[in-house]
Amino acid sequence: MSGSGADRRIPHKDTQTRFRMSIEEKTSQTLKDLGAGTAEAIGELFAEVSAALEKEREEFVARGAGDERERSQSAKDLRDRWLARKSGLVSLIDENWLKKAPKELKPAVGRAFNQFRQRAKSVDTESLLCDVGQPEAGAKQGNLQFASASTESDRVEVSARGGLDLTLPGHRRSLGSIHPVTQVMREIEEIFLGLGFSIESGPEIESVYYSFDALNIPESHPARDEWDTIYVNSETVLRPHTSPVQIRAMEKHGAPLYILCPGKAYRHDNPDSTHATMFHQVEGLAVDTDISFADLKGTLDYFAKKFFGDKIKTNFSPSFFPFTEPSGELAISCVFCGGAGCRVCKESGWVEVMGCGKVHPEVLRHGGIDPERYSGWAFGLGVERFAMMKYDINDIQLFHQGDVRFLEQF
Ligand code: DAH
Repeated sequence: MSGSGADRRIPHKDTQTRFRMSIEEKTSQTLKDLGAGTAEAIGELFAEVSAALEKEREEFVARGAGDERERSQSAKDLRDRWLARKSGLVSLIDENWLKKAPKELKPAVGRAFNQFRQRAKSVDTESLLCDVGQPEAGAKQGNLQFASASTESDRVEVSARGGLDLTLPGHRRSLGSIHPVTQVMREIEEIFLGLGFSIESGPEIESVYYSFDALNIPESHPARDEWDTIYVNSETVLRPHTSPVQIRAMEKHGAPLYILCPGKAYRHDNPDSTHATMFHQVEGLAVDTDISFADLKGTLDYFAKKFFGDKIKTNFSPSFFPFTEPSGELAISCVFCGGAGCRVCKESGWVEVMGCGKVHPEVLRHGGIDPERYSGWAFGLGVERFAMMKYDINDIQLFHQGDVRFLEQF
């Protein structure tokens, strides 16, 4: 069975993870409760609240014109939410993060807090109204002159005269964010780049040879059926996995070789909460002299801990892939229950996350590498599945629908 494609299991979890916590929830907890014990983690938290502040301010500005009373009210609401003396988010951060910070972290938290407090001034009512070009605020500051059309009836008159009302605010588009699949892909890339791997890519419309034959899956082999391939014609397919890039990279660069290939894969699967016709994989390949299964285990254990956290345990079990011998399946201790057993891990405490193994000598040969001299290991994982586990998402379709309400949470 394919570890990364066909068997993408959905995590279910009702309790909120730290990733999903709202800003209010985060600011009502101490840094200790949030598990932020290093300057780096603190930096991340402040970056997160600054980004939220900036986003809310931009949204306010982008909403722009409209009824003046409504605008003043929502400016005041936004100001109160962040700057209210007692219950504003800035005060909560002061109370819960700064004042309750352990002594050794105080200087770092203090510095970050001061910077943040400066930035938070951009949501005081006057700055907000000034930003949308509200006449009163400008007049109050005494530095802006509004020639005409400060009321709705003036505006009608100006346009009736055929004039251009320069006081009307423009339309700002709100900034998007990086797609969660891309974020996870980049995170995986970062970890392997740090280990000396480089990034390779290959065509998504791929030959049958690279997709199957070169990977030791001849036409007659039953394993071909496992990949629910979308054929363009008898010679060409939409690649059902990223593994063809292994062969292309070996042909291109020879050995030694340490590559990572993130990219799209396609399968003739019926869409449901764990299957999509298009999804993303990351393929890894290491070829060198004296590569052993222990190197594979060590590397993937390091990777799993970097990605999911230090507490994660890994377990390798035997499996079958035509392009690796021996083949394995990597399972990690369940990120939701910590290994105790829950719905996500079907009470087993373990969740399978990727296929891997020592590269089959035949595959090295197809890549033009002498299997007597070199050996290698490889793995392939499903990116959506990793993102689902990381962010506690239970439907793969959400990634591909482009719904802003989903995407803006990342
Ligand atoms: N290509 C496999 C799939 O799509 C995943 C995989 C398994 C890739 C083992 C590998 C590997 O490189 O060694 O299901």
